[in-house]
Amino acid sequence: MSSNSRFVPLVLETDTSFNMIKNYLHSACKSFLFLSFLVLISFSSYSQEISTEPAAITAGGQIFNANCKACHRVQQKLVGPALAGVEQRAPSIDWIKRFIKNSSAVIASGDEYAVNLYNEYNKTQMTAFTSLKDEDIMNVLAYIKSEAEKPATPPPGQQTGTGGTATNAGGGSEYLNVILIGMVIILILLVIILGFIISSLKRFLDQRPLSEEEKEVVHSPITFSSITSSRGFLFIVVFIVGALGFKTVINGLYSVGIQKGYAPKQPIAFSHKVHAGQYEIDCKYCHIGVMKGKSATIPSVNICMNCHNQIKTGTNTGEGEIGKIVRAFNENKPIEWVRIHNLPDLAYFNHAQHVNVGGVECQTCHGPIEEMDVVRQHSLLTMGWCIDCHRKTDVNSKGNAYYDKMVEIHKEREGKNPMKVEDIGGLECSKCHY
Ligand code: HEC
Ligand code: HEC
Ligand code: HEC
Ligand code: HEC
Ligand code: HEC
Ligand code: HEC
Repeated sequence: MSSNSRFVPLVLETDTSFNMIKNYLHSACKSFLFLSFLVLISFSSYSQEISTEPAAITAGGQIFNANCKACHRVQQKLVGPALAGVEQRAPSIDWIKRFIKNSSAVIASGDEYAVNLYNEYNKTQMTAFTSLKDEDIMNVLAYIKSEAEKPATPPPGQQTGTGGTATNAGGGSEYLNVILIGMVIILILLVIILGFIISSLKRFLDQRPLSEEEKEVVHSPITFSSITSSRGFLFIVVFIVGALGFKTVINGLYSVGIQKGYAPKQPIAFSHKVHAGQYEIDCKYCHIGVMKGKSATIPSVNICMNCHNQIKTGTNTGEGEIGKIVRAFNENKPIEWVRIHNLPDLAYFNHAQHVNVGGVECQTCHGPIEEMDVVRQHSLLTMGWCIDCHRKTDVNSKGNAYYDKMVEIHKEREGKNPMKVEDIGGLECSKCHY
């Protein structure tokens, strides 16, 4: 009853000390709440405190993986310093924000800490991230702090990646093996049963009065030559040889012009296993065209030099292979990579449509690239391969307003069946042929 404030004065006048205490507590509570509110406000406007909110950490992790992971790890020195504890060793949070947005400006201003760091890292330029907001940087710091506090990180190269397609293929051949073993067992059983039938037939015939000639036939031993000279055997051999020959010819015809498995030697022994696998460098860091355009593009020497003006020796190949990059850079000559995937000119394929709009993973088409020392063509790249996927794959229409109308129309017509690529015109000749 005293919670209703209109009655408070009345109650105070008439009642005992019990209510006075209650009222006192009530106002104390209020002012405490007000105070903590003030403290909260001052914190958020100051906002230099590194958040421990899971949402901030996740958001920061995404920014870190997309922009920073190529050069930084939290616990380990890579191209740039290990970032654990930066918030303490750098001059200030504000300094960190300025440095990330434009490190060369901070260095050029003569800032002592920045100049020392720059020299320590052999004058390697850190990329400028002008598009990152203060809030993004605070999230990255939240992520770094939470990672730094984790006890032990798994060693590099342990990550399994997204190359799920390879294991599927293994599953298919296991299935075949089981069928084959089953068939062999059935054949052996048949031979044993036939043996029993033959011996009981022989016993049966022995009890009959037979002529000498007939007896000879019954007791003629089954020898190798008696088998090979029989007509049934000859038929089976001819059949098997014929079928095998036919299959090789058909396979040969089908693979004309198909380069699945093609893995040429490259001018530099560049390894995706080292870069994309062990060091987890994002595919898009090197194949910069993949989100924006038709072609994924092969990185120029400049991109290699972002890191290799620092890293001069490889664990597996020593200085020889990396030396070739430095030479190409100094002589200003492009590296002549041998192209592996190549559609004929009559077909049109666009990476951005698949990777950016469609959300298809690189590995779905290219296989487990991050496990390959030498890239090999994983898929057939035939028209049948494109069409097959367009029939099976649902369109990723989430968060894409462009598809809202189509999804609606599709629902009216087809009911609950998900919208496939074929439903948006993925089988029309003109979409893939000029
Ligand atoms: C191309 C490689 C590269 C990328 C990408 C990169 N950095 Fe750096 N970073 C460096 C190098 C190298 C340094 C050392 C200073 C120098 O040479 O300029 C550095 C220094 C720093 C420092 C100062 C470290 C210290 O010890 O005080 C911070 C903080 C930092 N980077 C944050 C980031 C963040 C956050 C991102 C992603 C948004 C990022 N960096 C992306 C190369 C990179
Ligand atoms: C450090 C830079 C770098 C990174 C990171 C990288 N690549 Fe590459 N990629 C290259 C270079 C250089 C070539 C050309 C030489 C070769 O084929 O090995 C190449 C070639 C390829 C090719 C074959 C191109 C052709 O000629 O048909 C594919 C496919 C490919 N990369 C996919 C990927 C995928 C998928 C990822 C991420 C898992 C990735 N790459 C990460 C540098 C990189
Ligand atoms: C983001 C940083 C980065 C970029 C970009 C990069 N590399 Fe590397 N590269 C590394 C690291 C890290 C290693 C591992 C060094 C080691 O083995 O200790 C390495 C190793 C190598 C090796 C030696 C591999 C071995 O194990 O012997 C070669 C060759 C190489 N890189 C070629 C290239 C080429 C070509 C490009 C450009 C297409 C390129 N790298 C771009 C970071 C990078
Ligand atoms: C839907 C299948 C598909 C997906 C997904 C895909 N690719 Fe490709 N990729 C292809 C085809 C097909 C070609 C041959 C294109 C041509 O010859 O015009 C190709 C060619 C390439 C090439 C060499 C030629 C070029 O276009 O520059 C690189 C490098 C490459 N892909 C990298 C990637 C990377 C990195 C990703 C993921 C970010 C990716 N691809 C995702 C199908 C795919
Ligand atoms: C792994 C599955 C997959 C493979 C393989 C594939 N595609 Fe696609 N394709 C898609 C998806 C998913 C979309 C829908 C993207 C979107 O949301 O617009 C698409 C869309 C397209 C479109 C646009 C269709 C439209 O109506 O807007 C074209 C053109 C296309 N693909 C060409 C090709 C060609 C050419 C190949 C073979 C070299 C190929 N695709 C292989 C999954 C695939
Ligand atoms: C999803 C994409 C896609 C669609 C849709 C598509 N094609 Fe193709 N087509 C291709 C690709 C990729 C190749 C090249 C394949 C190769 O080199 O094996 C090709 C090759 C061909 C070829 C040449 C065959 C050869 O062996 O060189 C013809 C003819 C052809 N397509 C006709 C058509 C017709 C007609 C349609 C419509 C009914 C059609 N295509 C629809 C992707 C497509």
